[in-house]
Amino acid sequence: MFSIPHLDLPALTAAGGTVRLPGSKSISNRVLLLAGLSEGTTDVHDLLDSDDTAVMLRALEQLGCGLQQRRHDGQEVLEVRGVGGQLRTAQAALLLGNAGTAMRPLTAALAVLTTLQGGEFELSGVPRMHERPIGDLVDALRQLGCQVDELGQPGYPPLRLRGVAGGALNLAAPVRVRGNVSSQFLTALLLALPLAARSQAVVIEVEGELISKPYIDITLALLQRFGVKVQREGWQRFTIPAGSAYQSPARIHVEGDASSASYFVALGAIAAVDQPIRIEGVGASSIQGDIRFVEAAQAMGADVQAGPNWLSVRRGAWPLRAVELNCNHIPDAAMTLAVMALYAKGTTRLSNIGSWRVKETDRIAAMATELRKVGAQVAEGPDWIAVTPPPPQAWQLASVHTYDDHRMAMCLSLAAFNPLAGAQPAVGVRIEDPRCVGKTFPDYFEALFGLSRARLQDIPVITIDGPSSSGKGTLAARVAAALGWQHLDSGVLYRAVGLAAKARSLLPDDAAQPLNETAQAQVAGEAAALDIRFEGDRVWIDGQDQSEAVRHEAAGALASRVSAVPAVRAALHQRQLDFRALPGLVADGRDMGTVVFPDAALKVFLTADAATRAERRYKQLISNGISANIESLQLDLEARDLRDRSRTMAPLKPAEDAVMFDNSGTSIEESVQQVLQWWAHRRA
Ligand code: C5P
Repeated sequence: MFSIPHLDLPALTAAGGTVRLPGSKSISNRVLLLAGLSEGTTDVHDLLDSDDTAVMLRALEQLGCGLQQRRHDGQEVLEVRGVGGQLRTAQAALLLGNAGTAMRPLTAALAVLTTLQGGEFELSGVPRMHERPIGDLVDALRQLGCQVDELGQPGYPPLRLRGVAGGALNLAAPVRVRGNVSSQFLTALLLALPLAARSQAVVIEVEGELISKPYIDITLALLQRFGVKVQREGWQRFTIPAGSAYQSPARIHVEGDASSASYFVALGAIAAVDQPIRIEGVGASSIQGDIRFVEAAQAMGADVQAGPNWLSVRRGAWPLRAVELNCNHIPDAAMTLAVMALYAKGTTRLSNIGSWRVKETDRIAAMATELRKVGAQVAEGPDWIAVTPPPPQAWQLASVHTYDDHRMAMCLSLAAFNPLAGAQPAVGVRIEDPRCVGKTFPDYFEALFGLSRARLQDIPVITIDGPSSSGKGTLAARVAAALGWQHLDSGVLYRAVGLAAKARSLLPDDAAQPLNETAQAQVAGEAAALDIRFEGDRVWIDGQDQSEAVRHEAAGALASRVSAVPAVRAALHQRQLDFRALPGLVADGRDMGTVVFPDAALKVFLTADAATRAERRYKQLISNGISANIESLQLDLEARDLRDRSRTMAPLKPAEDAVMFDNSGTSIEESVQQVLQWWAHRRA
């Protein structure tokens, strides 16, 4: 996941391939709570790993549930040991972030349990959570006789729940709850009240129209998995039969997130021109209401095929068709339609979306503001939004504010496909605070980049060349991490070839002796066939972890010998070009700016005096547990520099347009900031 202030998406031109969805947020948090309240142990498979589930897990742990992660058939399984409807702790302060799916049901469950069993619990969240209404749920809990104190504004968290052991709930009359602000209030009661239904039935009545009904379906389906069969009369009256009690199903799978699927369905409809987008994890048999987003996308032109737990999407009608749609049944996924509207002919109007205003942010206002930034015309009302796409000349390079709302970030990323709408000129999109996607889809951008294509010249490259131990490897890795870009350490490729050549005895014993023609051809053959894989800072050669070996001095010396062979350099050329991938590349080496990426947007030539370099190298080797001698290191570095500088092919020298940077007296942090500053200037 990116931990960076913003992420720049270049203009994107096409998409295709397969994405596996993370688990559904709504199902994950319901399952966790149900497993936590149940009698018995539940193995939860395919749980979403996100900010909102982390919040729920922490709360369950505080409440005395046993949680254990283990691997089963190569998959992560979470084992949840439930409390069997009994409070194991009398007091806790639960911090629930901005997770509505944790705040509402935990409030209801703990209110019911403290009333019956005694205890005192405080539930709070981030400032935005304290602006999200919960008054209707508090009213319903008070009717039941629960003691709920609002610690801030009336009707909003934070809340305190209190009770003394041996209390009782007023269950004689139906509990009444309003259904038109958030369906999560009803879900919360449905999840909590089976805890009070051992000896008598509990009836819940909904006042007014119930919004987001499909989420209630998810709740009812999951209650049934945990042994509670609710009787539903229309959407007005729900009866939890007497004798209900939670019982673990022993094992449960979490479906992929249907709301998250919407971005990839949209991606297919907009950009899957020659290859479909295949989405794995949800499909026709999903219990999530947002799966019906597929119908809306089809109405706009998407060509969709569906299996039980997969979807395959291609572009159908193009441009997309504008629609007028009541979106009450797909409140979250409907946001994606607002962005698909950028690619439609005419005005798309989405109505009955009032609940957008009380989500992670006021999503109607946020969507209107950000879509206008990219050039669209947007009109909005209390519970509707209408979007007209920009004409080709009106697309704007935008810095999209994301309001700590995962869906804003994911939705607006799709604006980067403006070349497909004929944008003149094509523009990139800056996503501010991209890590907010961690709420439901921590690897969203990696998934998007894995499926998307851009014109090569639109994928920016920063090169950092320089002599051995100038610090370029560390600097490049840090700059890449700060930007959320790919990193190519080209020295490792030469080092790997050196090791392979040595292992096959292709190099003369005397290091000073040049390679004859046959040896040159053989080493070049090794370079062409090199089986090398990078995984973070690990390096795999021929399927073996060689991370330590490649960083050894000996490998550096071997690299320096094989890198002087023109055919080796030629064999590695295309491989290095292949690292130029979305959203950008930082490449370090000797000839990145001069030979491999001569069109790089920023070229840095990094130097440091020989003594500083020898000292850095020394520290690096010692800290890796490799013994070294500082004098011989300095001699070695100087010899290597001389060889790299004096070779005829791709000698070590700064590119003409490189920025010279002597970092002898500069800390790594300052060096990173310096390069980022140069990059910010270049972009501006
Ligand atoms: O940078 P590093 O020390 O890992 O590089 C090892 C050797 O590989 C260098 O001394 C140089 O001879 C060679 N090399 C190269 N061109 C690159 C990167 C490394 O010739 N782009």
